[in-house]
Amino acid sequence: MEFGIPAVGFGTFGSDHADAELVSASVELALKAGYRHIDCAAVYGNEKEIGQVLNRAMTGKIEGLPALKREELWITSKLWNDKHAPGVCTETFKKSLSDLGLEYLDLYLVHWPFPNAHEAHCDVTSRAASARPYIHEEFMTLWHELEKLVDAGLVRHLGVSNMTKPKLELVLRDCRIKPSFNEMELHPSFQQKEFYDYVKSQGIGIIGYCPLGSPNRPERDTTADDVVDMEMPSIKAAAAAHGCHPAAICLKWANQRGHVPIPFSTKERNIVSNLECLMEDPLTDAEMKAIADDDRNCRLIKGQVFLWEGCGDNWHKLWDENGVIEK
Ligand SMILES: NC(=O)c1ccc[n+]([C@@H]2O[C@H](COP(=O)([O-])OP(=O)(O)OC[C@H]3O[C@@H](n4cnc5c(N)ncnc54)[C@H](OP(=O)(O)O)[C@@H]3O)[C@@H](O)[C@H]2O)c1
Repeated sequence: MEFGIPAVGFGTFGSDHADAELVSASVELALKAGYRHIDCAAVYGNEKEIGQVLNRAMTGKIEGLPALKREELWITSKLWNDKHAPGVCTETFKKSLSDLGLEYLDLYLVHWPFPNAHEAHCDVTSRAASARPYIHEEFMTLWHELEKLVDAGLVRHLGVSNMTKPKLELVLRDCRIKPSFNEMELHPSFQQKEFYDYVKSQGIGIIGYCPLGSPNRPERDTTADDVVDMEMPSIKAAAAAHGCHPAAICLKWANQRGHVPIPFSTKERNIVSNLECLMEDPLTDAEMKAIADDDRNCRLIKGQVFLWEGCGDNWHKLWDENGVIEK
């Protein structure tokens, strides 16, 4: 995998159903199961608790887990939208580093490309008065601040998330240090083929979030048209043929397609099987093609709360679907 990133990561977004204690206990189970890549974010509100688990893992205090060396782990964190300002971004990075109890991060992502924040757990209809479209000059000011963190040895790789092709083209034109990764929504019903191929063509690694279709996301983040990935015909057929859970098929598909899935789970059985399924019994070419053909263009994380005045409810504007940056 690109830049030595482990081929699967462990998600840590507990949303409404898993508090910091449960998420950090799940991270402990994940480390014991063999995961070495943890996908964190300041906005998930649990980096301190995860940091305590990492500390125990690296000092040999987790029963059944020999002490891990720092370089055996891949730890990602993300900068939240209301912390883009120069100075603030650096302080926020340092807070994540300190909460996680680390001397450096492997990857630091800009969580969303615009500084439009919202209250945690708010309804999708809520709008921040200060929300505005992407402003490239502001993004590059932020990016150049983050580049200094790489220079200082505090982070090994920078990356973007929830990007679009026209925005990424500008970032690649104007950056000094290229993003090593793009973290994007990817699951069988939402494959983003064109953008995916573009990102790969630029030598940028891809991390896929909601790899199972985020089946336990809150009601407010679902719409009547959302596809349930684990019930798609191509997924169910492959699960029957391989005698495994549809979740395993979603993860095998991600792995064989060439990106890094970051499934989250609170259950030991699922945590273990989500890792083990990648080490055995791959999908056939015909199964990979059937899943590719089953794409539904079904975006789950639509981002409505980040819309700015004048967009109405048209969340498609956040994703530059016409190939130009929406203003
Ligand atoms: N960059 C971004 O903007 C962004 C956005 C969203 C998410 N993310 C990251 O991506 C990670 C993954 O996304 P996600 O947590 O929304 O969704 P997900 O990984 O697609 O789905 C997680 C859910 O699936 C269930 N599950 C896990 N393994 C299972 C299995 N083997 N069989 C049946 N059910 C299973 C889990 O329930 P149980 O606990 O019951 O197993 C959990 O609630 C997040 O945790 C976060 O780190 C990033």
